[in-house]
Amino acid sequence: MHFDYNSKNIQTIKQSIMANQEDMFKKVVSHAKEYGFIFPSSEIYDGLGAVYDYGQLGVELKNNIKQYWWKSMVQYHENIVGLDSAIFMHPRIWKASGHVDAFNDPLIDNKDSKKRYRADVLIEDHIAKIEEKIKKECDKAAKRFGDAFDRQQFVTTNARVLEHQKQIDEIHAKYAELMNANDLAGLKQLILDLGIVCPISGTRNWTDVRQFNLMFATKMGSVIDDSDTLYLRPETAQGIFVNFLNVQKSGRMKVPFGIAQIGKAFRNEIVARQFIFRMREFEQMEMQFFVRPGTELEWFKYWKEERLRWHLALGIPAVKYRYHDHEKLAHYANAATDIEFEFPFGFKELEGIHSRTDFDLSRHSEFSGKKLQYFDSELNENYTPYVIETSIGVDRTFLAIFSHGLKDETLEDGSVRTVLSLPPVLAPYKAAVLPLVKKDGLPEKAREIVDLLKYDFMLQYDEKDAIGRRYRRQDAIGTPYCITVDNDTLTTGSVTVRHRDTMQQERVAIAQLSAYLHDGIKPIKVN
Ligand code: GAP
Repeated sequence: MHFDYNSKNIQTIKQSIMANQEDMFKKVVSHAKEYGFIFPSSEIYDGLGAVYDYGQLGVELKNNIKQYWWKSMVQYHENIVGLDSAIFMHPRIWKASGHVDAFNDPLIDNKDSKKRYRADVLIEDHIAKIEEKIKKECDKAAKRFGDAFDRQQFVTTNARVLEHQKQIDEIHAKYAELMNANDLAGLKQLILDLGIVCPISGTRNWTDVRQFNLMFATKMGSVIDDSDTLYLRPETAQGIFVNFLNVQKSGRMKVPFGIAQIGKAFRNEIVARQFIFRMREFEQMEMQFFVRPGTELEWFKYWKEERLRWHLALGIPAVKYRYHDHEKLAHYANAATDIEFEFPFGFKELEGIHSRTDFDLSRHSEFSGKKLQYFDSELNENYTPYVIETSIGVDRTFLAIFSHGLKDETLEDGSVRTVLSLPPVLAPYKAAVLPLVKKDGLPEKAREIVDLLKYDFMLQYDEKDAIGRRYRRQDAIGTPYCITVDNDTLTTGSVTVRHRDTMQQERVAIAQLSAYLHDGIKPIKVN
């Protein structure tokens, strides 16, 4: 039996194309608020810049992201263990890590609009505009050539595309050279040479570029003097490094091994925009993998591929991801790449994978006076392990998944449904249990099903409104399955299961529901 009045149209669903990326992004922000995923922090006091609260559904999605990461890193790897270190740490840690002296962003003000920007972001945005031109050339050619269009061939031979690409490469190279030399005057000159204008005033009336430290400072204890200055951690990684020996010794860990941590980080971002993409208080999922010196580049390659597989297992198309290998390496790194995601505002960093050499452990040895080394019994040798780091933002992952999943679909009968196609493993509710009507013993039967499944799955029970409207509500919050209890359920012991993305329905025995849901919410296997 089928209850969805639109199911006959499923073969001919057409996705309506959002007017433009900006509209799409506005829709993401408003949908997140309307359905209780994300609220601006302190909203009744007019909000607080770049700080957000996660609502009743947001916290479920966020917890599921964290759990998905934790399982794949800690539970599925016998040589990776977890940690939960404190946010407050000894202030010398940030001296040793280089954050006190070098955790800066280059900022620049426009004298006419009085708006402040990150110099590197202005340059990145300029590059994004050139990339957009390449995309337009490709789209035009794809239309012209139809099925015969070979994108790879086109981008490597078309004169206009090659010219744009050359411009991009030159800007990247110049930018890397200037940043490596900490040449702030050169950075300003590059902004002027590229003709970058303030998006508000439209002028090139720029101040000089200055460095701005991103750490939040606070005081510990009642005596206010300089020695009490603490920093809210700008990354969770340092908590792992300073516990390296504690974990290695107490856990009898053998190199290669990893320590994983999920936790809050704080950065006083200059340009805090793009919703939860760049926040002042956010959450990171980081893993430091300790290896023998000399093997780090092999492990770097391993984690680079492994981390992309983790993303792809969520079922989001591979074209939404790309690597961005760094030309400008931090002084402590000998290889670095970002996994970028195509957000509604273009490709941006989602995760960083860095080969950090022995920099952090050596610096903490030097600053603490405690030797942070490992005795390798196979080599009969003491050494400072090298480190591969994987570091991903919880909130950015949330935004990637949420913005990709949200769409308006125009059905053949002209009606529009809003659907949030979240990966089922991450969806806040795995299923909604819906009695077809509020009588004839159907609510009681539906409650029985809830009781049967609720220890294994987050469920929502809903009996209000017509069944079609209830389906729409679940589509909008990303629930992958709707379980409908009807009169036949009482005699056959089966229910109708409706799939969110296809709207297709099938009959399933109540006794099979648990296995059915388990199977349906598994991540995809990626080789
Ligand atoms: N320990 C290395 C590290 O912190 P990072 O590239 O500065 O590296 C890692 O940050 C990840 O943390 C980023 O890829 C991003 O997903 C997330 N992240 C960084 N700054 C953020 C911010 N202001 N708001 C939200 N997420 C942020």
